[in-house]
Amino acid sequence: MAVKTEELQESGARRTAPGPKGSPLLGSALDLKNDMLGTVHRAMLEYGDVVRFTVGPGGKFQEEAFGVFHPDHIQQVLTSKTAGYVKDDGVYSELRHLLGDGLLTSEGDEWKRQKRMIQPIFTHRRVASYVPMMAAETREAVERWGGYADSGTTVDLNDEMARLTLSVVGTALFGADVESAVPVIRETVPFLSERAIQRAIFPLTLPETWPTPANRRALRYQQALYNVVDDLIAARRAQPAEGEDLLGLLLQATDPENGRGLDDKEVRDQVLIFLLAGHETTATSLTFTLHLLGQNPEIQSYLHTEVDRVLQGRTEPTLEDVMALRYTTMVIKEAMRLYPAAYGIPRFCTNGDTIGGYDIPAGKSVFCSTWATHRHPGFWEDPEKFDPERFTPDREKARPRYAYFPFGGGPRACIGQYFSMLEAAVVTALLMQNFKVTTPQGPVKLFTGITLRPQGAVPASVERR
Ligand code: HEM
Repeated sequence: MAVKTEELQESGARRTAPGPKGSPLLGSALDLKNDMLGTVHRAMLEYGDVVRFTVGPGGKFQEEAFGVFHPDHIQQVLTSKTAGYVKDDGVYSELRHLLGDGLLTSEGDEWKRQKRMIQPIFTHRRVASYVPMMAAETREAVERWGGYADSGTTVDLNDEMARLTLSVVGTALFGADVESAVPVIRETVPFLSERAIQRAIFPLTLPETWPTPANRRALRYQQALYNVVDDLIAARRAQPAEGEDLLGLLLQATDPENGRGLDDKEVRDQVLIFLLAGHETTATSLTFTLHLLGQNPEIQSYLHTEVDRVLQGRTEPTLEDVMALRYTTMVIKEAMRLYPAAYGIPRFCTNGDTIGGYDIPAGKSVFCSTWATHRHPGFWEDPEKFDPERFTPDREKARPRYAYFPFGGGPRACIGQYFSMLEAAVVTALLMQNFKVTTPQGPVKLFTGITLRPQGAVPASVERR
């Protein structure tokens, strides 16, 4: 398959990429709606490294989008300076509508200004200072799981991890004020993010201004979410809190170029983005890490051995401990290969491009599929197998940079990568220090919302060690 595109590149030809025809009326729309991940993966295997999907009937009613799968092509899209790949597709415009113009959703000079102000908040030193908090939040989960283990109650990994990661990112943001925000976030965010993805994929939805029950509910929820964040900002402006939570740092941040700070709405936009981007994604990664450990007792037992050796029974891991948890980190990376929370990274190609010899016309959507590229048979042997050994330092080095990109790449790469990798290691280590997890064999049903999530509960039985 890779050969096809290389041959084309050598001949210098520009051609239309191959792809599935789908149904005459809807193109691939229904296949993508019913099984987005499977449809994209199969298309990569069948048609090659650049695939053209059509949605809708022919002529001017037909939309087209291009899936790119080869690591070199992913790099081209995520780092090109000339082709003008911007976040202007349906998914990002819905996100912008929901969350405002924060670091994830903004573009151009506005993004550059925000990045200058926010980058210093995410230095490794600062992020590492959250390790004790991450451990304290996890110890509460350990306490709760002890009860489940003693009573033989099945744990829902999905619910437990969503609860834990929301507490962690909420506490990182709001410090001691987190309690007032968590219930509102838990109630509103799942509905709002599901709605955003539905609207992005099926633009034939009713206008938002129509007073349908769903529109009214969305408005109410959005307002409730804004209110809780706005109240926290107002309280903090009136009386700055002790400590260095992210909200305090955002309120103090200044643009090194002109000394100006962020206004209240800009702070709210960033807070909402951190909440949304930092909570579900890490929850999914942890849920699948534990689920796969539960299915693979031998790998779990290696991990138990490492955790016991590094922590020596201590329940307050330090940054050095986390750094020494090498196998644990390999396990998490492998879980994120198979179940990348950001399963597709969409872009809009402003200027037009040629990828692998194929023409990408200006004004078309392009998406980089972590889901498919992480299973690309040219770079991953036996791709469906859960095998943390793929992430030994030597084997990582031997692979092209963009064969694995759960946090994206280029200038718009995830700013929370270090935060979430530290969090995932702390949570996995402390849970494994205390428990043995068993999960049923077989796949988990997936839901492709804004991020990848399990559809419904992910049951596990837990035993004290
Ligand atoms: C496992 C957890 C996470 C995953 C898989 C993940 C994934 C990603 C990906 C793929 C992107 C690039 C999107 C694109 O290029 O279109 C991104 C960007 C971003 N992420 Fe994360 N993320 C995670 C955790 C976090 C956390 C914990 C935070 C914040 C506390 C965060 C905040 C952001 C922000 C602000 C951006 C936009 C950066 C920019 O454009 O400059 N993420 N994330």
